[in-house]
Amino acid sequence: MAKILIGISGSIAAYKTILYLRELRKLNHQCRVILTTGGAQFVTANLIAALGCEVYCDQTLDFTKAEQAMLHIDLAKWAERFVIAPSSAHTLAKLAHGFADNLLTQAVLAYDATTQPIYLTPAMNQQMWHNPATQANLQLLKERNFTIWEPASGLQACGDNGTGRMLEAEQLVMLTEQTLAKPILTGKKIIITLGATVEAIDPVRFISNHSSGKMGWALINAALARGAQVIALCGKLAIKLPTHPHLQQIETLSADDMLTSALIQATDADMIVACAAVADYKVVNYAPQKIKKKSERITLELTKNPDIISTVKQQFPQLIGIGFAAETENLIEHATNKLKTKGLDLIIANDVSEQQIFNHDTTKVSIIEQSGTTQELNGSKKQVAEKIFEQLESLLCKI
Ligand code: CTP
Repeated sequence: MAKILIGISGSIAAYKTILYLRELRKLNHQCRVILTTGGAQFVTANLIAALGCEVYCDQTLDFTKAEQAMLHIDLAKWAERFVIAPSSAHTLAKLAHGFADNLLTQAVLAYDATTQPIYLTPAMNQQMWHNPATQANLQLLKERNFTIWEPASGLQACGDNGTGRMLEAEQLVMLTEQTLAKPILTGKKIIITLGATVEAIDPVRFISNHSSGKMGWALINAALARGAQVIALCGKLAIKLPTHPHLQQIETLSADDMLTSALIQATDADMIVACAAVADYKVVNYAPQKIKKKSERITLELTKNPDIISTVKQQFPQLIGIGFAAETENLIEHATNKLKTKGLDLIIANDVSEQQIFNHDTTKVSIIEQSGTTQELNGSKKQVAEKIFEQLESLLCKI
């Protein structure tokens, strides 16, 4: 449980901060909120207070009251983490130039950011984001003790499409949790494969599967939260992974590409977690031009893909290998077979028979060890990934 100070400045994205606060409260964090006059145009102090957060709003402050006179300093000293979400273009500009004209900017100046940076989560129209003034302000902030949680791209409230969407509440929670984590895996390099591999048939068609990458993302977070360096080998994903200084994302759409990258990365890695749903077969004759529908039937000739985790384990036997087993029947038996035949240290068996797993935020798995010990887990993918990593920590800390 941490003491988290959250600044809300003026942006429509403030509604996401409400969801973020709700999740932080569920995790039992103590939250105090500074709501700027601009922020109060979008969300109310009452709403924030109803979530169990103390809220301070410029309009209602009374500096004649002794306990409020030093509020900016008290809040800055109280905070173990300081996040400004959303950070509007105007607030970013003020922070870059040291303005102190409201409680939020005063608290920023009063905060000792030498041990913990202030985390900024920008939200603005894409043109405003790309404006040289905003970019220069961001550069200045990065050179000081601020960390920017970069906005995502997509459709914006104004109708534009581009960069400037504030990260979603779930991502903000994960990033916040990472700032609180104990770096027990510092110095460890972990390869995590995730998502669905894609096997091209022609320039427009492909063979793939339902994997979204959400479980892989939860595992990446659990690894980053422990200070590990993570190499994410990404198949097709239904989510966009935020950037992180210890995360390298490599797009490896086909099984062959994923294997090539895995073998390169494995030379100095400590562990590989094969969470990707790899297409077992690829087409023999890729058609360089779009296949025309001339005949009533066509036959695709498929050939087996290499087994990524087995190949990596064969070439790097010292690397800890963690697999997943997606099964629709005889879960434990089939998963245990895969554990043995692929030479793995641990396998996580996933019952995918009910289609309740792919692209969902919850999951149900059994962790099977080489000894045959089995542990069942279910809950959000984040909770399950945390439990899995508690077990992986002991494997990694042995080496
Ligand atoms: N895997 C892999 N390379 C492949 C196929 C699978 O590395 N070509 C990995 C997966 O990432 C997972 C594990 O092997 O960690 C098991 O994958 P799964 O799809 O459950 O099983 P398969 O080995 O493909 O066998 P089957 O499809 O017959 O169940």
